[in-house]
Amino acid sequence: MNPGAKFNATTGLTIRPFSFSDLDSILQIERQSFPKSPYDWTTFLNLSALYPETFLVHTHVTYGQKEGNIWGYIIFSKDGHIISIAVHPLHRRKGVGKKLLQRAMKILYLKKIWAEVRRSNLGAQAFYSKLGFQITGEVPNYYGNEDALIIQWTPVPQKSSQESSC
Ligand SMILES: CC(C)(COP(=O)(O)OP(=O)(O)OC[C@H]1O[C@@H](n2cnc3c(N)ncnc32)[C@H](O)[C@@H]1OP(=O)(O)O)[C@@H](O)C(=O)NCCC(=O)NCCS
Repeated sequence: MNPGAKFNATTGLTIRPFSFSDLDSILQIERQSFPKSPYDWTTFLNLSALYPETFLVHTHVTYGQKEGNIWGYIIFSKDGHIISIAVHPLHRRKGVGKKLLQRAMKILYLKKIWAEVRRSNLGAQAFYSKLGFQITGEVPNYYGNEDALIIQWTPVPQKSSQESSC
């Protein structure tokens, strides 16, 4: 048998709720993703207490491993506010952020979703735009010396089956 095939067949990506043992990995991703203002240990613990069901991590399990490595995380509130999302720099542009955001969209089913993004963070703006978000406002000096753009995804109203298609 081709050993490569076995390797691929036994690797996998999973999204699951955050647990305390994820903290070191999350902090590493955080420091590399938000060097100007990373959340610290205490903030993540507080966020995990506030959002136990909507602080999610994306893991990647490799053949032979019991536990997966953490590639990214998302934290959001049930009313639709994305509090944070980040992917490890080595694993960006592999669809991890998209899967995390799509999971949030599925859980929040047809609710409006919004986030703040630094004006200078063009990568994140392109990411959200690709997923159908639009800039709807700005908050001057939200980050101290930098403005935030408010980006929002608004669900498209579904047509009722009795409505005419004309
Ligand atoms: C923003 C972020 C979460 C995106 O995660 P990711 O896993 O790299 O994104 P994905 O691979 O799912 O990207 C999906 C699509 O979004 C767009 N996109 C993502 N990152 C982009 C970038 N830097 N520049 C342009 N387009 C980008 C692309 O269209 C991409 O599809 P493609 O790779 O097939 O072209 C990640 O870049 C990150 O952690 N950034 C630092 C933290 C941050 O800025 N968080 C957001 C703060 S609000």
